[in-house]
Amino acid sequence: MTSESNPTTKPERRTWRAIISVMVAAGLVAALAAFGVTALLVNIFQRQQEAKNPFMRVVEVTDDTVDPAVWGMNFPMQYDQYKRTVDMERTRFGGSEAVPHVVNDTDPRAVTARSKIEANPRLKRMWAGYAFAIDYREKRGHAYMLEDQTFTQRHKKQQYGNCMNCHASMYTTYKQLGDGDIQAGFEKVNVMLYQDARKLVEHPVSCIDCHDPATMQLRITRPAFKAGIRAAKAAEGVADYDVDTMATRQEMRTFVCAQCHVEYYFAPDESRRLTFPWYKGRRGDDIMAYYDEIGFTDWEQADTGAPMLKAQHPEFETWSQGTHAAAGVACADCHMPYMRKGALKISDHHVRSPLLNINNACQGCHRAPEEELLARAERIQERSEEMLDIALNGLMDFIDAILEARATGVDEERLNEALKCQRAATFLIDFVEAENSQGFHAPQESARIFFKAMDYLRKGNIALGKSSAVAAVAEPQAEPAPETIPASPPAAVPATDPPAGV
Ligand code: HEC
Ligand code: HEC
Ligand code: HEC
Ligand code: HEC
Ligand code: HEC
Repeated sequence: MTSESNPTTKPERRTWRAIISVMVAAGLVAALAAFGVTALLVNIFQRQQEAKNPFMRVVEVTDDTVDPAVWGMNFPMQYDQYKRTVDMERTRFGGSEAVPHVVNDTDPRAVTARSKIEANPRLKRMWAGYAFAIDYREKRGHAYMLEDQTFTQRHKKQQYGNCMNCHASMYTTYKQLGDGDIQAGFEKVNVMLYQDARKLVEHPVSCIDCHDPATMQLRITRPAFKAGIRAAKAAEGVADYDVDTMATRQEMRTFVCAQCHVEYYFAPDESRRLTFPWYKGRRGDDIMAYYDEIGFTDWEQADTGAPMLKAQHPEFETWSQGTHAAAGVACADCHMPYMRKGALKISDHHVRSPLLNINNACQGCHRAPEEELLARAERIQERSEEMLDIALNGLMDFIDAILEARATGVDEERLNEALKCQRAATFLIDFVEAENSQGFHAPQESARIFFKAMDYLRKGNIALGKSSAVAAVAEPQAEPAPETIPASPPAAVPATDPPAGV
C-alpha cells in the first residue's frame, strides 16, 4: 500500500489517501468490469452479425440489387473473375471460339460462336423442320447468354418468355411481376411473347440469381428447378423434397447450375410453363419414357413426318450418372474451383472449361501431371465423338430407309413403328450430342445411351422389313435350341410382329 511506502506522512492524511486510493481502485475495477461486459456483449453481437453477414460491406446490397457491378464493390475479386466470362478460348472438344460475324439488320454481333450445324450437316437433317436446323451454335461464356439468345435465328419461329428463365438475371423480374411471389412472376413471364419479356431484363445471370444478399449463401431462385428436383427425388423414393430446407451445401454447389444446365420442355397448354421432365428419373431413357407417357412432341421431322423430341444441354442429368457425382464432386468443384488471390482463397467466378484450368480444377484431387489428366479427359471425349459419328451415320441411313420403304410401299403399321424408332433413336443420340462435356461427365452412361439409340435403329430397320437376319441373331429367345442350329445361317425371314417395347 502507498501508506506504508511513505512513513513520514501524517496519519490522518494517510488515512484519507488510503480511502481515496481504495475508492479509485474500486471505481477502476467497476469501470473495467463494466467495460469488460460491454466489450463482451459487443463482441458477441459482432460475431452474431458476422455469422449473418461475414463480409466487409462498402455499399448496401439488397434483395432488389440486380446490377453485378454494385455487388462487385463489396466483392471485387469475385466480380473481376465473373467479368472474365467474356473470354473465348477453345479446347479440343469444347471451350468457346470467337468467329467473326458480318453485322446485319437483325444481328449486330461482330463475333459469334462456331455453327454446329454447318460443321456437322447430319445434325441439320436430324432436326429438319425445327428451329435448330436454322441456327445452332457452340455455347459461349455466361457474359453472352442474353445477347446470344436475343440474336439467334431461331426467332424465325415465334419464341416466348419461358426462354428467358435461363438466359438472364430473372430473380427481381419474377419478384416484381408477382408482387413478391416468385412463382406468380414466373408464370407471367412464361406466357409473354419473347420480345416483350426481353424488355424486362437487362443482365445475364448475376450475383442475385445464386446468392442471398444478406448472407451470401447459395440459394435457388428458379421455380422450375424446385418443382423438377422434387419430382426427381420422388422418382428416387424421397417424398416431399424441399430444396430450400433439405439441400446440403455441397449439393447447392451443383443445384445452382442445375437451374439452367438441364433438359427442359414447355407445357403444351396455355400456361407454357417451363418444366423439367424428371418424373420418371434423370436418365435419357427415363426422360423419354415420361415424354412418351404424356404424349409430348416438339415437332414433326420434315423428311418423314415422325413426331420428334429435342434434347437440350442435359449436363446435370448426365453428371448425376457419373463417377464424380457418386464421389460427391459438384459442378463448382471443377467449373468454379478455389483459387488463391493474395492471402485469400476464393471461388473462381470465371465459369469455363476446366480443361483450361487443370491445375486448380483437377489437381487438387488428382495428383497426376497436367498432360496426363488432359489426355485422360480427351481420350473419353474422342471415344464419345466416334460413337456419335457411328450413331449419326446409322440414323441418316435409317431416314433413307424410311423414305425408300414409303416410296416402294410399306404397311402402315410397320411405318408407324419405324417412325417411333426414329423419334427414340434421335432423342437418345441428341441427349449425348447436346450434353456439353462430350461424354466426360459420365462416360459409361453416355455410351449406354448411344447403345440404346443403336438398338432403336436396329428395331426400326426390322419394322421396315430390313435386317431380319440381324434380328434373328439379336433375338436369342427366338433361336432354335443349340443342337439344332444349322451349319449355315437360315435364309432371311421377314420379321412378323413389330418389335416390342418401342
Ligand atoms: C470432375 C469435374 C467436372 C464436374 C464435377 C462437372 N464438370 Fe462440366 N465439364 C468438365 C470437363 C472436363 C468438361 C469438358 C471441357 C472441354 O471439353 O473443354 C466439361 C464441360 C462442361 C460444359 C461445356 C464447357 C465447355 O467449355 O465446352 C458445361 C456447360 C458443363 N461442363 C457444365 C457442368 C455442370 C452444370 C456440372 C454439374 C451438374 C458439371 N459440368 C460438372 C468437368 C466437370
Ligand atoms: C441462369 C442460367 C444459368 C445458370 C444458373 C448457369 N448457367 Fe452456365 N450457361 C448458361 C447459358 C445460357 C450458357 C451459354 C451462353 C451462350 O452461349 O451465350 C452457359 C454457358 C456455360 C459454360 C460454357 C462456357 C464457355 O466458355 O463456353 C459453362 C462451362 C457453364 N455455363 C457452366 C455453369 C456452371 C458450372 C454453373 C453453376 C455454377 C452455371 N453454368 C450456371 C446458363 C446458366
Ligand atoms: C432450362 C434452361 C434454358 C432454357 C429454358 C432455354 N435455354 Fe438456351 N441455353 C441454355 C444453356 C444451359 C445453354 C448453353 C449450353 C448449350 O448451348 O447447349 C443455352 C444456349 C443457348 C443458345 C446458344 C447456343 C445455340 O444453341 O446456338 C441459344 C441461341 C439459346 N440457348 C436460345 C434459347 C431459346 C430461343 C430458348 C427458348 C426456346 C432457350 N434458349 C431456352 C439454357 C436454357
Ligand atoms: C451461377 C451462380 C453464381 C453466380 C452468378 C455468382 N456466384 Fe458467387 N458463388 C457461387 C458458388 C457456387 C460459390 C461457392 C459457395 C459455396 O461453396 O458455398 C460462390 C461463392 C461466392 C462468395 C464466397 C467466397 C468465395 O469466393 O467462395 C462470394 C463473396 C461470392 N460468391 C460473390 C459473388 C458475386 C459478387 C457475384 C456477382 C458478381 C457472384 N458471386 C455471382 C456461385 C455464383
Ligand atoms: C473434388 C475432387 C475431384 C475433382 C476436382 C476432380 N476429380 Fe476426377 N475423380 C475424383 C474421384 C473421387 C474419382 C473416382 C475415383 C474412384 O472412385 O476410384 C474421380 C475419377 C476420375 C476419372 C475416372 C472416372 C471416369 O469418369 O472415367 C477421371 C478420368 C477423372 N476423375 C478426371 C478428372 C479431371 C480431368 C478433373 C478436372 C477437370 C477431375 N477429375 C476433377 C475426384 C475429383
